[in-house]
Amino acid sequence: MTILVTGGAGFIGSNFLFWEAEKNPQDRLVCLDALTYAGNLSTLAPLMEKENFRFVKGDIADSKCVDQLFAEEKPDIVVNFAAESHVDRSIEDPGLFLRTNILGTQTLMDACRKYGVGRYHQVSTDEVYGDLPLDRPELMFTEETPIHTSSPYSASKASADLLVLAYHRTFGLPVSISRCSNNYGPYHFPEKLIPLMISRALADESLPVYGDGANIRDWLYVADHCAAIDAVMRRGRVGEVYNIGGHNERSNLEVVKTILRALGKPETLIRFVKDRPGHDMRYAIDPTKIHDELGWLPETDFDSGIAKTIQWYLDNRAWWEEILSGDYQNYYKKMYENR
Ligand code: NAD
Ligand code: DAU
Repeated sequence: MTILVTGGAGFIGSNFLFWEAEKNPQDRLVCLDALTYAGNLSTLAPLMEKENFRFVKGDIADSKCVDQLFAEEKPDIVVNFAAESHVDRSIEDPGLFLRTNILGTQTLMDACRKYGVGRYHQVSTDEVYGDLPLDRPELMFTEETPIHTSSPYSASKASADLLVLAYHRTFGLPVSISRCSNNYGPYHFPEKLIPLMISRALADESLPVYGDGANIRDWLYVADHCAAIDAVMRRGRVGEVYNIGGHNERSNLEVVKTILRALGKPETLIRFVKDRPGHDMRYAIDPTKIHDELGWLPETDFDSGIAKTIQWYLDNRAWWEEILSGDYQNYYKKMYENR
């Protein structure tokens, strides 16, 4: 079986490649990644020498490149992780998000139609459901929750989801979609909340918390997400959407304070800054469907996952320090200096 993994040099895609290489070593893994600022080829170094692994640098929205790769590899399964993934960047430059996240999805699915695949799996997000109020803790996103997006990022992901379902109904493409809550773990790019706070706390720099820090995210350790995607792409029903989450809701302030405690750093590092425009209040996933149909359950709770994650950032300073030493400095200055 050949599995084409797009966006495999990013955070979740790379964790997924490692997960598959370990659990299903008989399968051939092909990674297509444009190596944008978020893609890091050095992450994939442990896989590069393997016989049944191939890396191709290319853009999912480039039909010529995608067509050639499909002609060469004839993948059985395509898993699309490739995306512009950071909400704050989508507020700065929506157009790039529409191109990659919507047109890239279309380009991949057109190749799937042309060459035929057993499954096209779209890695989506709980952000397509919008947000939940803080004062209704009993509410959770189910697969029936209406799409109701807040940011250009989530709107682009929702558009892609609609296109995926349309390709199933109109062309009979064997698709599935998973919508996961916030991931954390190794190789998380240090612009996102958890790695940003770990890296800045270690340098005794201020920790920018948006608004009052009361916003809630439902955190899932990345390996649990990888296991869930594997279950859906191999055993999930065609044409279906599966929510993925592990009931690990925490406010942003709780997360930041947990990191500070673990690193022995003072809470005086916290700096409340201007809120993100359109900031979603609360995400919470109801994972009943994936549990009942596919038997998936998360293995890592937040307390042990955050401890493992902090340890990983301590043990792998070179990985993130190299990122922080490059262009990222300009990004941080631009996004945070007037907040
Ligand atoms: P990431 O930003 O860390 O990685 C994205 C990867 O896609 C990078 O390697 C980048 O080089 C590549 N890429 C970007 N544009 C490309 C293009 N045009 N062609 C080919 N490759 C391209 O993202 P992530 O956090 O790993 O997220 C992966 C997927 O999971 C995304 O689709 C995202 O929407 C979804 N998701 C993320 C989370 C989360 O918490 N991070 C949660 C749920 C769903
Ligand atoms: O829910 C899934 C989504 O989770 C994915 O689809 C996205 O790709 C992923 O980036 C993530 O989106 P969020 O916007 O929730 O993640 P982020 O790490 O950017 O922010 C998490 C929370 O922390 C959010 O409420 C905003 C807040 N925040 C973030 C940053 C970067 C801060 O308070 N300060 C910051 O500097």
